[in-house]
This record gives sequence, C-alpha cells and structure tokens, in this order.
Amino acid sequence: MTRTENAAGWLAAGMAALGGAIILLVLAPPPSANATPPESSQACLKCHPGVAEEWATSHHALAYENPEVRKLSQDFRNEECLACHAPRPVLGFAPGQRVLARQADRAMGVDCLSCHSRPEGGVATSSIRPDRTAACRPVHDPRLASVDTCGSCHNQHGTVDQWRASSPALRGKNCLGCHMPPVWREGGRQGRDHRFLAGHHLETLQQAVELRAGILDDDEWWVEIVNHGCAHNFPTDERSRAADVQVRWMDADGEWMAWEHLHRFRDPYRDELDLTNTQLPSGETWSHRGKRLREGRGEVRLLYRFQPFLPDEEALEIARQSING
Ligand code: HEC
Ligand code: HEC
Ligand code: HEC
Ligand code: HEC
Ligand code: HEC
Repeated sequence: MTRTENAAGWLAAGMAALGGAIILLVLAPPPSANATPPESSQACLKCHPGVAEEWATSHHALAYENPEVRKLSQDFRNEECLACHAPRPVLGFAPGQRVLARQADRAMGVDCLSCHSRPEGGVATSSIRPDRTAACRPVHDPRLASVDTCGSCHNQHGTVDQWRASSPALRGKNCLGCHMPPVWREGGRQGRDHRFLAGHHLETLQQAVELRAGILDDDEWWVEIVNHGCAHNFPTDERSRAADVQVRWMDADGEWMAWEHLHRFRDPYRDELDLTNTQLPSGETWSHRGKRLREGRGEVRLLYRFQPFLPDEEALEIARQSING
C-alpha cells in the first residue's frame, strides 16, 4: 500500500466510525426536556417525596437552623462554621479536602445537592443503570457511597480514621451500612434511609453498646460495657457528647440511694486540658470492679448526654442492669 492509499483508508475508516456515532446518537433516548439538572435542592423535594420526608427529619436538614449550632457560631458570624453546615457539593472537592460554604439555600443545611451534585453534571446515584430520561440526569458514580464522601465533613474528630482502624467484622459495613439501611420506596424499589439515625435515636444508641453486670463474690461486683455496634468510637464525632456509667444501691430499709458516678466516655474539648479522651473504641470493652454493699441490691445504668453538663433528667437512658437480681 502506498502512503496516499493508507491515508485514504484511515479517512474512510474515520468516516465510517463517525457515521456509526451519528446513528448511535439518533438511536439513544432523547435527552429530557430539562437538560440541566436542578440548581436548587428545593426542586428535588417534589419529585422524590419519600427521600424528602426522611431527609427533612434528619440532622443534615437541621444543620443550618440548629439552635445549638447558632449559639456556638454566634449565628454564623463565625463564617468558618458555614463550611460543613451549609456546604457546596462535596463531590466538587478532592476526597478528604475541606469543603467550602455555599451562598444559596443555606437554610437547607446539608441538602440534596451537597451529596448528589456532580461537578461533571447530573446527580450521582449508586444504581448501575439509572433512568437517563429523568429530569435530574442521574449518573452512576461510585464516589457517592464511598466513605470519603462522608469523611469530607465527618473526619474533623477522626470518625473515618476510627472506622479505618476498626475490626474487619465491623468495617465490613461502611458508613451507609449502619446509617443508611435499606428502605422500600413507592413501586417496590429499594432505597436508602435518609434519616441518618445515630445519637439522637435511642434504638440506634442501644445497638451501639452492651451493658453487663454481676456479682464476683461476697465483697465485689463487676460491670462491663462493650462497643459491639459501632465501627468507630462510642460516642463519636461531636466532642459535646458524653456517656456516663452510674451505680446505685438499696439501703437496709429498701430505699434506693442516690446514683453515683463511675465513668464517663467522652472526647473532651481542646481547652479541657485536664481531661483525656475516654471514648470506647470499636470492638473494645471497658470494665470495672467495685466493693459491694453487703445487704443491698444494686443496679447500673448508662446515660447519654448531648452536652456534658446536662442534668440526668435530660439524658437518654441507653441501658440499665441489675447487679444482684
Ligand atoms: C421533575 C422530577 C425530578 C426532579 C426535579 C428530580 N428528580 Fe431525581 N429522579 C426523577 C426520576 C423520574 C428518576 C428516575 C426514577 C427513580 O429512580 O426514582 C430520578 C432518579 C434520581 C436518582 C437515582 C435513583 C436511582 O435509584 O438510581 C437520584 C439519586 C436522584 N433522582 C436525585 C435527585 C436530586 C438530588 C434532585 C435535585 C437536585 C432530583 N433528583 C430532582 C425525577 C426527578
Ligand atoms: C469540617 C466540617 C465542620 C465544620 C467546619 C463545622 N462543623 Fe459543626 N458539625 C459537623 C458535623 C459532621 C457534625 C455532626 C457530628 C455529630 O453529630 O456528632 C457537627 C455538629 C455540630 C454541632 C452539634 C449539633 C447538635 O445537635 O448537637 C454543633 C453545636 C456544631 N457542629 C457547631 C459548629 C460550630 C460552632 C462550628 C464553627 C466553629 C462548626 N460546627 C463547624 C461538621 C462541621
Ligand atoms: C457536607 C458535609 C456533610 C457530609 C458530606 C455528610 N454529613 Fe453527616 N452531618 C453533617 C453535619 C453538619 C451534621 C450535624 C448537623 C447538626 O446536627 O446540626 C451531620 C450529622 C450526621 C449524623 C448525626 C445525626 C445525629 O443524630 O446526630 C450522621 C449519623 C451523619 N451525619 C452521617 C453521615 C454519613 C453516613 C454521611 C455520608 C453518606 C454524611 N453524614 C455526609 C455534615 C455532613
Ligand atoms: C449526606 C448525604 C446525602 C444527602 C444530604 C442526600 N442524599 Fe440521597 N443518597 C445519598 C447516598 C450516599 C445514596 C446512595 C446509597 C446507596 O449506595 O444505595 C443516596 C441515594 C439516593 C437516592 C436513591 C435511593 C433511594 O433512597 O431512593 C435518591 C433518589 C436520593 N438519594 C435523593 C436524595 C434527595 C432528593 C435528597 C434531598 C432531599 C438527598 N438524596 C439527600 C446521600 C445523600
Ligand atoms: C457497625 C455500624 C456502624 C458503622 C459502620 C458506622 N457507624 Fe456511626 N454510629 C453507629 C452507632 C450505633 C452510633 C450511635 C452511638 C454513637 O454515637 O457512637 C453511631 C453514631 C454516629 C454519629 C453520631 C454521633 C452523634 O453525636 O450523634 C456519627 C456522626 C456517625 N456515627 C458517623 C459515622 C460515619 C461517618 C461512619 C463511616 C466512617 C460510620 N458512622 C460508621 C454505628 C455505625
């Protein structure tokens, strides 16, 4: 073959491929009327009412309006706090990179676009073959379900690092495995729970740890707390969370005496220099032995506080166990 013949051959092959591409373009489903995906999460709500209802009850939806956050950030006069509480889409940042605040729809906190919007266009989904005709242009994107996506905001106190260091048995579930369990959507399709249940949900707290107690001998009793339900520390993330072990005994008249403090699980604030981190790592057991009050019955309980200083009446009781029947 001569040089010119060769070039003509490539040209012909190129034309054929181009023709094929044009035919493919014609055969592909027509792009939806709304070619660009919604620019506000407001729009997602009406087309995805099931997800919207769950998300609305989540702390992600509360992130900007949350009175606790308002108080600590002086109503976001500390603008540093906007970054994760009213973020731009996290997929627009490299994994592990700090996210930045957005201007629009701040009241929606960690909204749909925060997790789903792709910088390349469309919304991210885990489905392999999403419905390409949908107005939001869903695209399969493995980044959505990756731990790094949650880590953009949830590693400032090491939750993702704790997960990486946890036992393979627990790590077998990534964040979604525990915090986005399967739910059924209209039409029998499987979806993922967008309520993100955790510390504000008693049943989830009860799945985190087990409390055991008993008598050792005439003089001594024991108590154990096992973190068997979190692939990270207990409690994790917010330094304001505290979990306390308390014990009380019955006096000779059959009256319960006051609760006594035994132990606190917590990651202290940076300025609490006299305290060390006492969170219970994943898979580990905390145990204690104590002197027994000979006559009386005893019981132990585990309380969970959103703020370390909250009184017992405002704490959640995770578990209670009798020591001697
Ligand atoms: C005009 C209606 C409409 C709007 C607005 C809309 N969607 Fe969709 N969306 C659909 C339809 C229809 C589907 C395909 C059917 C399905 O999978 O639910 C879909 C699919 C999806 C999927 C993939 C679901 C799966 O199982 O693969 C995701 C994720 C999604 N939408 C997120 C969003 C987000 C985030 C927004 C807002 C930015 C949004 N949608 C706005 C109608 C809409
Ligand atoms: C790097 C991301 C990030 C930044 C920046 C950030 N937060 Fe948060 N914030 C979070 C995450 C994630 C949680 C949820 C953790 C949890 O529930 O344990 C949270 C939770 C909180 C809570 C607890 C809310 C509750 O209901 O108890 C408060 C209060 C809070 N943040 C205040 C602030 C303040 C004040 C600032 C600025 C100084 C700030 N945050 C900056 C990510 C961030
Ligand atoms: C853009 C930042 C951001 C991303 C990404 C993010 N979160 Fe959050 N998350 C937050 C903030 C902020 C809060 C706390 C809001 C508040 O309480 O005011 C929070 C709260 C939570 C809570 C606590 C709910 C409670 O009851 O206290 C859980 C659980 C959670 N997120 C899990 C996840 C998981 C799993 C992922 C990954 C799929 C994820 N988050 C992705 C920012 C984010
Ligand atoms: C904190 C991050 C986060 C936020 C906020 C969020 N999603 Fe999702 N969403 C996910 C992840 C992760 C998945 C994929 C789960 C999987 O792998 O199946 C998902 C799955 C979905 C799906 C498909 C599965 C299902 O449950 O039907 C739809 C539709 C969807 N999201 C819509 C929305 C809409 C609408 C909003 C706002 C109301 C929203 N999401 C807010 C992280 C988020
Ligand atoms: C094996 C199940 C499991 C896995 C996997 C898991 N978690 Fe949790 N998570 C829990 C349980 C149970 C709680 C409630 C007890 C607690 O606060 O530690 C919780 C609590 C939380 C909280 C709430 C803390 C608060 O202040 O209310 C956040 C935030 C959180 N997890 C984020 C994550 C992230 C991010 C990942 C992935 C790196 C993850 N979790 C993986 C079970 C799990």
